[in-house]
Amino acid sequence: MKRRQFLGLAAALPVVTTFGGWTLFNHAVSAPRFDNTLFLPGSDGPFAVLAPDAPFTLVAEQGWLPVPGRSETPFLWYRTQVNGADYQNPILLLRTGDELDVTLDNQLDEGTIIHWHGLHVPGREDGHPIHTVDPGDQYEYRFKVTNRGGTYWYHTHAHHRTARQAHQGLASFLLVGDDDNDALNEALDLELGSTDLPLVLQDKRFDRLGHLVYQPNPMQGMMGYLGDEVLVNMTPSARHEVERRIHRLRLLNGSTARIYRLALRADGDAVPFRVIGTDGGLLGSPREVKEAFLSPGERLEVLVDFAAFAGGDRVELHSLEFDPMAGGGMMGRGGMGRGMGGGMGRMMGGAMHDGDPLALLEFVVREGEAVTARVPERLSRIEPIDITDARERDIRLDMAPMQWRINGEVYDPDRVPIEVDANTKEVWVIRNADHSMPHPMHIHGFSFQVLLRSGGPDFVREQAVNDDGLTVADLGWKDTVLLWPGETVRIAIDFTHDYDGDQLYVFHCHNLEHEDNDMMVNVRVRA
Ligand code: C2O
Ligand code: CU
Ligand code: CU
Repeated sequence: MKRRQFLGLAAALPVVTTFGGWTLFNHAVSAPRFDNTLFLPGSDGPFAVLAPDAPFTLVAEQGWLPVPGRSETPFLWYRTQVNGADYQNPILLLRTGDELDVTLDNQLDEGTIIHWHGLHVPGREDGHPIHTVDPGDQYEYRFKVTNRGGTYWYHTHAHHRTARQAHQGLASFLLVGDDDNDALNEALDLELGSTDLPLVLQDKRFDRLGHLVYQPNPMQGMMGYLGDEVLVNMTPSARHEVERRIHRLRLLNGSTARIYRLALRADGDAVPFRVIGTDGGLLGSPREVKEAFLSPGERLEVLVDFAAFAGGDRVELHSLEFDPMAGGGMMGRGGMGRGMGGGMGRMMGGAMHDGDPLALLEFVVREGEAVTARVPERLSRIEPIDITDARERDIRLDMAPMQWRINGEVYDPDRVPIEVDANTKEVWVIRNADHSMPHPMHIHGFSFQVLLRSGGPDFVREQAVNDDGLTVADLGWKDTVLLWPGETVRIAIDFTHDYDGDQLYVFHCHNLEHEDNDMMVNVRVRA
């Protein structure tokens, strides 16, 4: 670890000192300890894998989740019982072509609805916020999974309550399998739950009882609510033992607002990794990188080869320091530097602000024979969307006082600012204002391909992996794309579907505080 990073980390970790009999909490001097075993799901209980083969019910309710190394916290989850086993927030495992028949039973004391993030489904099945169900009510979903294999997820989309409910627990993975995924897992002898690991990154805050806290002040509502520690699979300061072989990591940024600049470090040196998939499944071929940004809602699948390490070696997953570019919109010209972001972070009451260096997870390599394997050169086939007849549409992201906007709009359930025709293709030219902050933009119901990324800050341009300025997280099939201040991103969307009638979806910022503060618009796909 470089000295600067170490100091950054140290500054972010609280220690308790006593002073004249008073206990003071300050934020100095302590290295990451990685003293909690990474939570991995068992065969039942929290986040266990459930491959449903019959209709089932997900009960949204409040429970108590044990946090590794901590006490239990009140937690919102989706509970179900299948074949006598209890599941909370099950990792749903499906295959392309499967039917999902599930009923949401709202046992919360407020409205909620489930959205299937990344899935191509009719508007009625999508979990649009207008479908939010009252306490005691139910919503039945029934649809066919037509997406490619990949790492998707499901989470609450309650109108104006998404951020809090997601922060308090209502989210989990939805993994879709297909032949390409089978081929890869066979070639590398990977197994879900041991060498193929779903890992959700979430920053959280806890109070002194160890209970999750979600209390954004107006400034945090505007900028995003940042936690003061990052949990992986709800494990703070997580450590995980690995074999000397290739592992597949399915990384999901399930934070409400925090962006990660992911990198691996061993003894302070960068450890390259291969990106094999993004939001909508496998890439055409693997891409080796040393780092990648991951914004809220996005997924990144990577292969890490621990065969070259010796037993006892440690490989750490970090989020490297970066300029969060936050605060420009609030402060006007010239206010976009790191210093302003830092000042903003402190004003927001955070021990850590966006862009702070963070240690997320430590892999400890086990003793034993190294298993070497050849990563296949071809993973899948990605057909570029044919945009010859595509209509071009401009989307501007900017802000009015204390309000982020999309094309000057704030969310109004009765307005439909974007109307497209079914079975057509469109190119959306999304521009983020210069004086703005990063916005991870997400569309429901359809996947897209990123065509071009331009105009961004140097540290983003430096990450380009091709002549079109794309970063590694832009490759393949996407449903969420990050826009830095000043950037223009062109995406191609294929609105082909075979559903009856008009379909209503949303396009919104996946900074969930922004979403709840109405940085969202309806999208109608006209029959
Ligand atoms: Cu995961 Cu509308 O979002
Ligand atoms: Cu979504
Ligand atoms: Cu945003």
